[in-house]
Parts: sequence; C-alpha cells; structure tokens
Amino acid sequence: MLVLTEVSKWYHGQSRIFENVSFEMKKGDFLYLVGGTGAGKSSLLRMIATEESPTSGQVSLFGYPLATVSESTLRAIRQSIGYVPQGTRLIPDLTVFDNVALSLSLAGHRVISAASKAKISELLNRLGLESKRDHLACMLSGGEAQRVAVARALVRTPELIIADEPTGAQDRDYTWSLMDLFLKANVGGAAVILATHDREIVRRVRKRSAVLRKGQVTLEDAACIY
Ligand SMILES: Nc1ncnc2c1ncn2[C@@H]1O[C@H](COP(=O)(O)OP(=O)(O)O)[C@@H](O)[C@H]1O
Ligand SMILES: [Mg+2]
Repeated sequence: MLVLTEVSKWYHGQSRIFENVSFEMKKGDFLYLVGGTGAGKSSLLRMIATEESPTSGQVSLFGYPLATVSESTLRAIRQSIGYVPQGTRLIPDLTVFDNVALSLSLAGHRVISAASKAKISELLNRLGLESKRDHLACMLSGGEAQRVAVARALVRTPELIIADEPTGAQDRDYTWSLMDLFLKANVGGAAVILATHDREIVRRVRKRSAVLRKGQVTLEDAACIY
C-alpha cells in the first residue's frame, strides 16, 4: 500500500532532512512515526500525503509511483487517503459540520446522503463537538479544531490514514477518544501512520514504530521503543 524507496529530502539551501529512507506499510498496518522536534516527521508525512515530492527516491501508494502517476490517478489516490496535517487547515468561514462534509464532496459525493450526515454527527458526538457543529471553524479552540480535522480525515473511511501529531492539543480524555477512533479504523482495515511524541500513547498502545533520528529511519518493535 505504501512503499518508500531510498527517499531523501533537502529543502532549498538547507542540509538534508532525511536520507535514503526506505520502509513499507501493508493494508491494516499501524505504524508510529516518532522523533524529536525538527526530526522531519511532518516533512515525511507531507510527502506520503502527496503534498511534496522527495528530492530523490521514490514514494509509491497503492502500487503507483507518485512521480509518474497521471492527474486522474493522483486524484483517486488522494481520495483514498485521510490526512490530518499538523496545522489543522480548516476553512475558517465554514461551520464545523461543513468542514467535515466538504471532505466528502471533494471525494466526489456531490450530495451528502442521510447516511453521511448521520456519520458526521456521530463523529462530532464522539469527539465532544455536537454543540459546535454550526459554529464557524475560526471560533474554535486549538484542541477543538484538531478534533474537527480528525473527523474530516476519517469521515470518508480512507484506506490510509496519515495523522501528524493528531493529539498534540488534547487533554488525556480526548487523546484516548481520538486514539480509539484511529484504532477502530485500523481494525476496520485502514493502514495508519501516526506521528507522535506522546510517550504514554506509544507505551499504552503497543505498535511498530519508525524512529526518525539524524536523517535516518529505524523500524523498532513495540517492545523496544521508549
Ligand atoms: N518548507 C520548508 N522549507 C524549509 N525548511 C523546512 C520546511 N519544512 C520543514 N523544514 C525544516 O525541516 C526540518 C524538519 O521539520 P519537520 O518536518 O517539521 O519536523 P518535525 O515534524 O519532526 O518537527 C526542520 O529543520 C524544519 O525547519
Ligand atoms: Mg511536525
């Protein structure tokens, strides 16, 4: 489903962010991406989310090398991804409900079905946002906006979930509500790659980890990390 082959990244005029990173994920895998601030987690996830290209090496998603896919295939790939970026990137003058619903219309559902509306409501309820559904996104706290961004990523049942520190602005209760949603999606067959530096999550929910350190990635079993 996801294959990185000797991927390296430099930003213009800077030293390398990472070099010759290779790993793969299969359907139903769950992988933490851990590493200190500035290690390159967000850069790596933006590449996997098709937002940036590697300086060298290859990223393949669902069997397609991203460097050579057609526009229409790229669109289809993006529709199968649920991405929670580190900055939530909600549309400030749309309501909470519409921010989530927009993810469905961008995925090609022109009319939001009753079932989809129910799904949005259920996600908002689970994340303590039911009273905020008609509020404009610009009125939300950082934690609320982050939970809306997760709802937006999960609502269309993606095959690959890419979550960049999705619990970074949450208290403990919401951290576990969010983790519960990611784990349920994973049990339902989605592959999940989740960047975090929350040691308690990594300790309590034992999964394989990709550790990003000094530009290199090492894969570690749950037992070895932290
Ligand atoms: N668009 C960019 N242009 C230049 N440098 C960048 C850009 N994005 C990130 N960086 C740099 O790349 C490094 C890794 O950043 P980032 O991927 O955000 O790390 P992390 O998410 O692990 O904190 C940092 O040194 C950061 O300053
Ligand atoms: Mg980051």
